[in-house]
Amino acid sequence: MTRIYGSGAQDLAQAADVLAHGGILAVPTETVYGLAAHALDEKACRRIFEIKGRPLIDPLIVHIHDLAGANRLAHWNEWADSLAKAFWPGPLTLVLPKKEVVPPLVTAGLETVAVRMPRHPLLRKLLIKCNLPLAAPSANPFGYLSPTRPEHVLKSFGQKLEHLLNGGPCQIGLESTVVDLSQPHRPAVLRPGPVGPEDISEILGIEVLVETESRMAATTDEKVHSDTRGKPSPGLLHKHYSPGTPLVVLPCQDWTSQESPTKRIAKIAYRKPDQAELSRSSDMFWLTEDGDEQQAAHGLYDLLHKLDSLKFDLILIEPAPEGGLGTVINERLSRATSLKPDTIG
Ligand code: TXA
Ligand code: MG
Repeated sequence: MTRIYGSGAQDLAQAADVLAHGGILAVPTETVYGLAAHALDEKACRRIFEIKGRPLIDPLIVHIHDLAGANRLAHWNEWADSLAKAFWPGPLTLVLPKKEVVPPLVTAGLETVAVRMPRHPLLRKLLIKCNLPLAAPSANPFGYLSPTRPEHVLKSFGQKLEHLLNGGPCQIGLESTVVDLSQPHRPAVLRPGPVGPEDISEILGIEVLVETESRMAATTDEKVHSDTRGKPSPGLLHKHYSPGTPLVVLPCQDWTSQESPTKRIAKIAYRKPDQAELSRSSDMFWLTEDGDEQQAAHGLYDLLHKLDSLKFDLILIEPAPEGGLGTVINERLSRATSLKPDTIG
């Protein structure tokens, strides 16, 4: 049985104790749940990889409580200072040259380390209580959808997970933006996220590059696996964030092309369809009532988790309008499926 901790002082003290003794604890963040361990305890971090089934070439993000914590792990620079002032605590991860103290396992042998100061109040309390840097990837089996509720974590890991800190549903629902600040003159977004590239560029006063999905998609998983060093973000394997049910991203007007009398298909519109449309089709779902992008982001993984457990044969989802979080949603969807509509039998 997984032991579940709440927000009371005694529970927090016990959860901190788990981490101090090399245990693994699922934790809430404002983005998605993470699978946390003491980042400087190599043995504990190895367990994270084992529980997730994550290849050792995929480095972990280290969560810290304050700037001093970040400074202990990474060689700080002016860009980091400006971005931390603007966006921390929050959904932004900074990749910086690592200091000796960080075990190579955590950074998958890279000379850089990813650090993030999360904003979730309960996780912040835990970070203060345990006074440790916490390595934490998203708390999902490797390649599967990220969890945005404690139930998702419990369902994915079952008995494998001994401890979970319950912080309720995650506020944002999409993983943090990862930005590489380790190359002089060349800041680059490695994973788009809630903090947009234009916001980062504005703060830095220099245009940030965006390592797009199309660039990663051109690289096969195998190539990424065999050629990790020097790759901007080894974790950006092509197929990622996927539900078990085949998922196809398709504009609504093309949905009929996928219909068949033998298939149960769930259809996800971006925005709630009108009554006429709803009465025409069954198994319709939507991400937002009125087009609010934060609501759409917040509910995306939760809905996919739910539909996955309902065992449809196929999930069709309309792309989000481009821009802001819509672009991030589309990027995640493009990685949640490597299936093209015409390859679905
Ligand atoms: O919102 C988030 O970032 C969540 C919560 C738990 O904080 N964490 C998360 O971790 O999404 P994970 O491990 O699922 O994704 C981390 C990403 C991966 O794509 C990984 O390759 C990249 O960050 N990353 C980590 N360290 C890196 C490094 N040193 N250089 C380049 N990319 C790195
Ligand atoms: Mg992940």
